[in-house]
Amino acid sequence: MTDTNAINVSTLFDLSGKTALVTGGSRGIGKMIAEGFLQAGATVYISSRKASVSDAVAAELSSLGTCHSLPADVADDADRARLVDALAQQIDQLDILVNNAGAAWGAPYDEFPEGGFRKVLELNVTALFFLTRDLTPLLTITASADDPARVINIGSMDGLHVPTVLQTGTFPYSASKAAVHHLTRTLAIELAPRHITVNAVAPGFFESKMTEASLANFQDQIERNCPLGRIGRPEEMAGVAIYLASRAGAYTNGTVIPVDGGTSLA
Ligand SMILES: NC(=O)c1ccc[n+]([C@@H]2O[C@H](COP(=O)([O-])OP(=O)(O)OC[C@H]3O[C@@H](n4cnc5c(N)ncnc54)[C@H](OP(=O)(O)O)[C@@H]3O)[C@@H](O)[C@H]2O)c1
Repeated sequence: MTDTNAINVSTLFDLSGKTALVTGGSRGIGKMIAEGFLQAGATVYISSRKASVSDAVAAELSSLGTCHSLPADVADDADRARLVDALAQQIDQLDILVNNAGAAWGAPYDEFPEGGFRKVLELNVTALFFLTRDLTPLLTITASADDPARVINIGSMDGLHVPTVLQTGTFPYSASKAAVHHLTRTLAIELAPRHITVNAVAPGFFESKMTEASLANFQDQIERNCPLGRIGRPEEMAGVAIYLASRAGAYTNGTVIPVDGGTSLA
C-alpha cells in the first residue's frame, strides 16, 4: 500500500486549518455543528438574525476555538449580500458552508397563511440556493480534487417521509426539505467539477427552539415512532457534519444522510 492510500484515523476527522460558515449557528442544530467543528479544529463563523445572540454565542464558543459572529438575515437579499461581502473581507477562503438556518410553520390546511408558506420556502430553499451560489467563488479558492470544499445542507426526515406527529399541517416545511434534498443532488453534480461536494443531513428530532413545543406535547409519540426509541443527541449531529466536512467525507457527494434513529423508515 502506498502512502497516499494509507489510513490515518488520528487525522481523518481533523478540521484544523479549515474555515466554516454555519448559518443559524446561534442555537439548536447549528450550534451543535459549530461546537463540533470548533472541537475538530476549524475556525467557525456563525450567522443568525439576532446580532446580540449571535455575538454572545460566538463569544461563548470561543472557549473551544476561533469563533466569530456575522449576524445576517439570509432570507433578505441585501442582508445576504452583505454577509457574503463581510465574509470575503475577513477570510482568504471558505472550506465548509453549512446551510442550516431554517424555519417551520404549522397551520390547518384550510387556514394555511400564504405568507407563512412563502416565508418557509424563501428561507429553507431560495436563500439556501443563493447563499451557496454567491459563496461559490470563496469555496473554490483552495478547493482541489484531493480535498474538495464542502457544502452541507440541513434537510429533514420530513423531506423523506410524510410527517405524522404534529396535528397541524407543516405543508411548506416538508415540501421545502424535499426540495433541499433534491437541490443537494443537482448542486452536487453542478459543483463537482469545481471541486465542491454537496451533501445533506436529514435530522430526526433534536432538542431546539424549533422542536420545543413538539417535544413538550408529543415526546412520547415521537420516541415511539423512532425505532431507536429516543431523540437525537448533539454529538450525533456534530458527528455527521464533521464526517462530511473532513477528509473522511471527501468522496461522499450528493447524498442525503438521515440521522433520525430510523424514524423515516418506520
Ligand atoms: N431540531 C430538529 O429536530 C430538526 C429536525 C429536522 C431538521 N431540522 C432543521 O435544522 C435546522 C436548524 O433547526 P433548529 O431546530 O436548530 O431550529 P432553531 O432552534 O429555531 O434555530 C434556527 C437558527 O436559525 C436562525 N435563523 C432563523 N431564521 C433565519 C434567517 N432568516 N436568517 C439567518 N438565520 C436565521 C436562528 O436565529 P435567529 O432567530 O436569531 O435568526 C437560529 O440560529 C433547520 O433547517 C431545521 O429545519 C431541525
